[in-house]
This record gives sequence, structure tokens and C-alpha cells, in this order.
Amino acid sequence: MILVTGAAGLTGGETVRRLAARGIPVRALVRRSAGAEKLAALPGVEVVVADMGRAETLAAPLRGIERAMLISSSAPDMLDVQSAFIDAAAAAGVAHVVKLSGIMPERDSPFRFARMHGEIERKLERSGIPFTHLRAGEFMSAYFRQVPSIVAQGAFSVPMGDAATASFDIEDLAEIAVTALTGSGHEGKTYRLTGPHALSMTEVAAALSAATGNAIRYVPASPEEYERANLARGMPPYLAAALVELYAERRKGKEGTVFADAEMLLGRPATSFEAFALRNAAIFRGEQPAPKV
Ligand SMILES: NC(=O)c1ccc[n+]([C@@H]2O[C@H](COP(=O)([O-])OP(=O)(O)OC[C@H]3O[C@@H](n4cnc5c(N)ncnc54)[C@H](OP(=O)(O)O)[C@@H]3O)[C@@H](O)[C@H]2O)c1
Repeated sequence: MILVTGAAGLTGGETVRRLAARGIPVRALVRRSAGAEKLAALPGVEVVVADMGRAETLAAPLRGIERAMLISSSAPDMLDVQSAFIDAAAAAGVAHVVKLSGIMPERDSPFRFARMHGEIERKLERSGIPFTHLRAGEFMSAYFRQVPSIVAQGAFSVPMGDAATASFDIEDLAEIAVTALTGSGHEGKTYRLTGPHALSMTEVAAALSAATGNAIRYVPASPEEYERANLARGMPPYLAAALVELYAERRKGKEGTVFADAEMLLGRPATSFEAFALRNAAIFRGEQPAPKV
């Protein structure tokens, strides 16, 4: 049996849907049962409720699990939550953990979530559980955060300067997660997952303009302006501060490298930003609600 954690979230939910569509039985771990009805209605999906930060809630969800996908939120407790899960998975004898990580999980990174991913990867490697690290670049879906300003002003503002990022589609990520969870030969492997091109924000704006038929501009923001704007729209302060750290890394070009791993695992080129923008044009035009990111 396969366990997918973070199953109420973006990547976990998409991974569960893809496993179910292939008729592969899956246990979907959510923190709250409210809102998990759609997952529970999928064929072969068993929903379990647990708090991954509390090991005592994990014994039942881990019973009989051979392979698990480890995902939790970009939250201050991410290191503690995922560490507790690894301890519980080791105790339960899980045979393979696939971890969703970041593209640059350096334990001395100025970006707090990169440091946490670095620590979690190391803990998993030392746990004795065969592992696969899926080191994902910026999710293309992160641009859904810009929908209110794109719709209201025909513009988005991030502190990216002229740097480029090779952002990655979570549908490709979920497909690769399914491959790692169901295939063989992925144990001990680290995959660096990016889109097929590194785009500047001006190029991202051009792709969004072409997809929506509306003129959309990139307006560079200072880190201070960007943090103020995020706080003003209700973003938790730790996340607003973390994004400032992240963009400082991106401005150095740290997410501008394209890696071949995604294409190798998918057996086709990874989804381009242009294709992602076209698929989601109604969202970027404000005609459909944007998923929460
Ligand atoms: N955004 C990016 O560009 C990017 C790029 C690379 C890597 N990442 C990494 O991707 C991960 C997030 O993936 P995502 O965006 O697919 O996830 P997501 O949509 O943020 O969902 C995460 C899920 O984890 C659940 N969760 C958190 N703590 C939990 C706990 N203690 N017990 C049980 N469930 C818990 C949350 O439950 P609730 O619904 O109850 O909150 C949520 O449903 C993070 O590790 C992030 O660093 C993000």
C-alpha cells in the first residue's frame, strides 16, 4: 500500500488523483477530514486523518504501508513535522520514502525552507529508509498568487530583477511522484526537477499576455515593497519574510538552471510555462477562482 501525505494540498492531491486514475490503491493522509470528501470518493482511495507532527497519530496510517510520499506545508514547523514522520515511518518499517524537497536544499542557505529541506533530506538519508528526493524548482502555480494584481492592474510585481527561473508544473511533479512510488530503481536517487526553459519575469509576463489575450506587465518590486504588499493581503509574516529570502537567492540566478531529470523521468519534455499559462488562462483572466497557493 502507498501512503501520500499532504494529500489535501496541491502536489499530494494531484498525486492521489493520478494513482487512483490508474487503479492503484492509495491511502491519503490529511490533517482534517473536512474538505477531503472528493478524495475519499475516488476509487481505491482510503482517507486517513493524522497530525504528522504527532508521532502517536501515525501508527494506524502507517500500518501496512510499503511506500510513502512525504509532503507538508511551507510552515515554521516543516522540519519538526517531517522529522516526526520519518521517525514514525522508520519504526513502522516503511520500505521507501519519496520526499518532496526544494531545488536548492542547502543547510546553510539564507532561505529558511531550503535549510529545512536540507536537514530533512539528511535525516531521511540517515534513517536507513530507502529514499528518493524530488527537488522541485519554483512551482508554476506560485503565479496564482499574482492573479488579483494581474486581473485588477494588468501587472504583477515580484523582487526578481532581471533574473530567470526554470519553474516547474506540479502536474509533472505529481506524474514523477507516481513513477517514483510505483516504479523500481529510484531508491537512493536525487532528482532535480525544473521546467524546460528558464524565463525572466518579462518573458513570464509575455507568456501570460499571449495565453490570456490581455496585456500583462512585469513591474519589478523592491524586497521591502513586496513584503509590505504580501503582509497587506494577509500573508503570514513568516511566509512573507521567507519569500524575501527566496527572491534574494533567485536574483543571484540560483533557480535559473534547467535540469534534464524531469524529461528523463517523464519520457517527454517537461511542461513549458507557455503551456501552463494556456491551460490556466481562465484563472489568469479572473474568470475562474485560483487554487489556494
Ligand atoms: N511553492 C513552491 O514553489 C515550491 C517549490 C519547491 C518545493 N516546495 C515545497 O513543497 C511543499 C509544499 O507542497 P504543496 O504546495 O504541494 O503543499 P500544500 O498545498 O502547501 O499542502 C501541504 C499539505 O500538508 C498538510 N500538512 C501540513 N502540516 C501537516 C501536519 N502536521 N499533519 C498533517 N498534514 C499536514 C497541510 O494540511 P492543511 O490543509 O490542514 O494545512 C496541506 O494540506 C513544501 O515543502 C515546499 O517547501 C514548494
